[in-house]
Amino acid sequence: MKTDQQKWDKKYREKNFPNGEKPNSFLKNHIRLLGQGKVLDIASGDGRNAVFLAQNGWKVDAVDISPVALQKAQQLARRKEVKIRTIQSDLDSFPIEKGKYDLIAIFYFLDRRLISRIKQGLKKGGRIIFETYLADPAAQKLDAPENRKYLLKPNELLTRFGGFRVLFYREGVFKEGGKKRAIASLLARKN
Ligand SMILES: C[S@@+](CC[C@H](N)C(=O)[O-])C[C@H]1O[C@@H](n2cnc3c(N)ncnc32)[C@H](O)[C@@H]1O
Repeated sequence: MKTDQQKWDKKYREKNFPNGEKPNSFLKNHIRLLGQGKVLDIASGDGRNAVFLAQNGWKVDAVDISPVALQKAQQLARRKEVKIRTIQSDLDSFPIEKGKYDLIAIFYFLDRRLISRIKQGLKKGGRIIFETYLADPAAQKLDAPENRKYLLKPNELLTRFGGFRVLFYREGVFKEGGKKRAIASLLARKN
């Protein structure tokens, strides 16, 4: 059986920028609210969001299991003339340094065991920006993972970041990366 790394490496080898080179729309639409500082892009893939954050003055750490994806992220960064730090690691065991980040970004990756590490990794006043697939009856036939464990339940992000001040939240069917998807998006601040 293939490991997660082999599966993702293959995907990134077969297709250039499977998620596109353009940043996620929710991130793009909120970039001016976010300020600047140190950001961790979790499961960054081939760098569309990491590079965009660097272009907007952020000092970026981008972590992903796939060295192929991270190589492409570095190529994109060079092309856009910015610097990002890439870290190849399995997020099952990746330790997030406590109180290090002003922002943690996580797009289209759901591992609920990470949430307590994310909370600890943020500075006081730091923010989480999170978007991924939502279990929604309206999502049938839309782009989504088959395994339901990768789908958020309604209100789940709000509950999991219950101690945070919510700055923006939405659930529903929206267009992202050129595809219609049922998603939830959260921007929230650590108190
Ligand atoms: C759907 S892609 C999202 C990429 C990026 N966040 C974006 O929105 O463009 C999911 C990413 O999670 C990474 N990934 C999967 N399992 C992982 C793990 N256990 N540890 C670290 N990264 C992992 C994959 O390599 C892939 O880049």
